[in-house]
Amino acid sequence: MSHDDIENVGSNTSANPHLDDVVASRFSRRGVLSGSTASAALLFFGGGQLVGAGAAAAAPKKPRGRGPVIGFTPVKTSTDDAFTVPPEYTAEVLVPWGTALFAGVTWQKDGSNTAADQEKQVGFNHDGMHYFPLRRGGRGNTRGILAINHEYTDANQIYSALQGKTITNDDAGREKVAKALAGHGVTFVEVVLQAHGSWTHVVDSPHNRRVTGTTPVAFSGPVTLDHPALASNNEPMGTLNNCSHGYTPWGTYLACEENWNGYFGTAVAGWAATPEQARYGVSAAGFGYSWHVADPRFDVAANPNELNRFGWVVEIDPRDPTAMPVKRTALGRIKHEGATVTESKGRVVVYSGDDENLDYIYKFVGSKPWRQVRARGRSPLDEGVLYVARFDEDGSGTWLPLVHGQGALTVANGFSDQTDVLLRTRQAGDAVGATPLHRPEWVSVDERTKDVYLTLTNGIGYSKAGQDPSTANPVVNSERDPNPYGHILRWTEAKRDNTALSFEWDIFRLAGDPEYDMAANGLGGDSIFGSPDGIWVDDDSRVWIQTDVSNSSQNLESRGYDNIGNNAMLVAHPVTREIKRFLVGPRGCEITGVITTPDQRTMFVNVQHPGESTTYWNTLNGAPSPENPRTVSNWPEFDPDGRPRPTTMVIRRKDGGVIGT
Ligand code: FEO
Ligand code: CA
Ligand code: CA
Ligand code: CA
Repeated sequence: MSHDDIENVGSNTSANPHLDDVVASRFSRRGVLSGSTASAALLFFGGGQLVGAGAAAAAPKKPRGRGPVIGFTPVKTSTDDAFTVPPEYTAEVLVPWGTALFAGVTWQKDGSNTAADQEKQVGFNHDGMHYFPLRRGGRGNTRGILAINHEYTDANQIYSALQGKTITNDDAGREKVAKALAGHGVTFVEVVLQAHGSWTHVVDSPHNRRVTGTTPVAFSGPVTLDHPALASNNEPMGTLNNCSHGYTPWGTYLACEENWNGYFGTAVAGWAATPEQARYGVSAAGFGYSWHVADPRFDVAANPNELNRFGWVVEIDPRDPTAMPVKRTALGRIKHEGATVTESKGRVVVYSGDDENLDYIYKFVGSKPWRQVRARGRSPLDEGVLYVARFDEDGSGTWLPLVHGQGALTVANGFSDQTDVLLRTRQAGDAVGATPLHRPEWVSVDERTKDVYLTLTNGIGYSKAGQDPSTANPVVNSERDPNPYGHILRWTEAKRDNTALSFEWDIFRLAGDPEYDMAANGLGGDSIFGSPDGIWVDDDSRVWIQTDVSNSSQNLESRGYDNIGNNAMLVAHPVTREIKRFLVGPRGCEITGVITTPDQRTMFVNVQHPGESTTYWNTLNGAPSPENPRTVSNWPEFDPDGRPRPTTMVIRRKDGGVIGT
């Protein structure tokens, strides 16, 4: 089998039982069924509901009430190079990559903007996003700050034909690395609803800001900058691969560092990753960015501690453009997909998936009510306990503390102190017996029921030595790879208290296409989907699902993705689990990042990497390059001399109603 999705290559060599093992045991032990674990899984997931007396006893509590109204015209699957919403909605482009945030910079459609320009322009590959109202009450629905993560840059698109994409060890190479670093990070931009009904951004707003791969940063929590592991050759700066996000009850934004390992590499012969580096997927080749060729900051042999400054959750105050971003080390060092904050008993609870095949889901629980902590002038994200989840076959789960001196996290086991536990969070999770999962992506909490949703985007089963991935996974009975479509977990914490140390879990919904995948029972033309990534439960409990089918699978029959079309956003009903497709994106993109204004009448959605190299379209039209970045997509402008542009879209109902009703 060949998978090009980088996150599908696991680095977890622990013997901890995988969630698939747990699912299989849960049913064979209960005697719900005899026969293969695959058919047990089929019945378990049949119709999206638990089936069978034994299973019913283990069903977690149902969400309260009948749930929300979901009432739009579903959108069909599509391979068009278009952004399609229901006919009763409008969709407009808001802030594409390269949009000038400040006067004096002009977008150059040939890709010739400089690194200095990019510092003042909207970044590349929009991802997680939040809307911070700028006025109180109803007027907050018409003016606010959008905080937008920028996950990574694509050398085929950000460089002009003249520049080309090869990184050389000279001034031209350094300029290209600088431009890429300036395209990363976070955009803060003031947006306003105009009288004619369209949203625009405000040039030169005092709220506009770019945080990039070179912005000075601070560290707080147990691991501080004077820790030897953070002593790198350069000033502390930058945040990279900001995927999903979070926001706090005190009004700050959380950008999260996901696949940071891929930016580092080295040409030094004989360099080898330490076990800790290998656990984070650090390698001499990295993901092929070759930044280390021009910038020694990213050379793992010359500057190994720079790695340790990444993998954190980064807190940024959107209302103070002079405030330094702070890396909150108490939340652990992983490949943080996001950092979803909820509140229980006045304390903060932060959920975070570690998106790599066979990695874990984490939760941080503040030690005291957050208002008390802030009243003392301290951060609620600096004081608390980090846990990692174990899923058990009786349908329960346990949060295992990652606290030095407790359980396996002792000096005798090689953990020197709490900073060591946090710097090597993945290895701490291995040691305490956390449950490996299929690529944990976004988490969202239904604030009405306190239920927690987690997308598991897809997985190849086991990558452990000696195990055959084609036989090890009972979750999806696919003719193709095990679990190419992914699924969505839901759990309820004990007494619906999110600080609790135990929970009851269920599989909320399997993704899939019934043509290939019997376990996707119940999904049809208006609801088939694969590779769920973004998930967001709105104020009425609608469960919005965004997909990120990899560009090595998108539209391909050989991957079972020929019926599913381009990436999409769907909405699921929390009680009936029915699913309807709400929008479909252009070619080569993923759909990620979603938020509404508080009145739910404007929705912002991000289109990431339209036109990226995509096996299906490359075969038909050739692969994109700086010379011709338009072979896969030229959305949204379709300028014959332009290029595809990641962007935030604004979606409204033509009658001004609540989105999704
Ligand atoms: Fe950046 Fe895990 O998606
Ligand atoms: Ca994602
Ligand atoms: Ca992606
Ligand atoms: Ca993804």
